[in-house]
Amino acid sequence: MKKLAFVFATAALLASCGQNKEESTELNDPVVQPETTVEEPEVSQTVEADVYLELLSDDQMQYDKKELKVTSGQTVALTLKHTGKMDKAVMGHNFVLLKAGVEMNEFATKAMAAKETDYIPEDQSDIIAYTGVIGGGESVTITFEAPAPGTYDYLCSFPGHYSIMNGKLVVE
Ligand code: CU
Repeated sequence: MKKLAFVFATAALLASCGQNKEESTELNDPVVQPETTVEEPEVSQTVEADVYLELLSDDQMQYDKKELKVTSGQTVALTLKHTGKMDKAVMGHNFVLLKAGVEMNEFATKAMAAKETDYIPEDQSDIIAYTGVIGGGESVTITFEAPAPGTYDYLCSFPGHYSIMNGKLVVE
C-alpha cells in the first residue's frame, strides 16, 4: 500500500514537471510574446519642456551639431550625451551657453582655470545655462528658458576643447 502511494506521488510529480516545461516553452515563444517595447526619448519622461534637444559628444572631441534652433520663451530641455568610452578626466565634455556679446575665447580662458568647479568660472555672469562635465557613456539633461531672439554661442569649456567643440543656438 505504501509503495503504491509512492508511485502515484512520483507520477503526479512527473506530470507537473512536464506541465511546467510546456508553460515555460510557451513563454519563450516569440509568437506568443510579441515585442511590445516602445522606444521613447528618455528626456520626455523625466522633464517637462516645450522642446527637447539632444547634443552628442564623443572621444574625438566633437559635438554632433553645430547649430541648434529654438523659439524665444520656450522651455528647452537639452540632453548632452557622451557616446565615447574615455573618462571625464581626460575627455570630459559639457555644454555652456553664453550670453550675447560674450567673447568665447575670453570665456574659455577663464573657464579653463576653474577646474574645481568643473570648468565653470565662479562668476557666472557670462552664462545662460550649463551642464556638468560628463565622461564616456554618461548623459546629462538641463532645462532653461530660451532667451530673446538672436544667435548665441555654446561651447565645451573643458581645457582645449572649445575651438572644435562649439556651435550656435539660434533663437527665433
Ligand atoms: Cu569637451
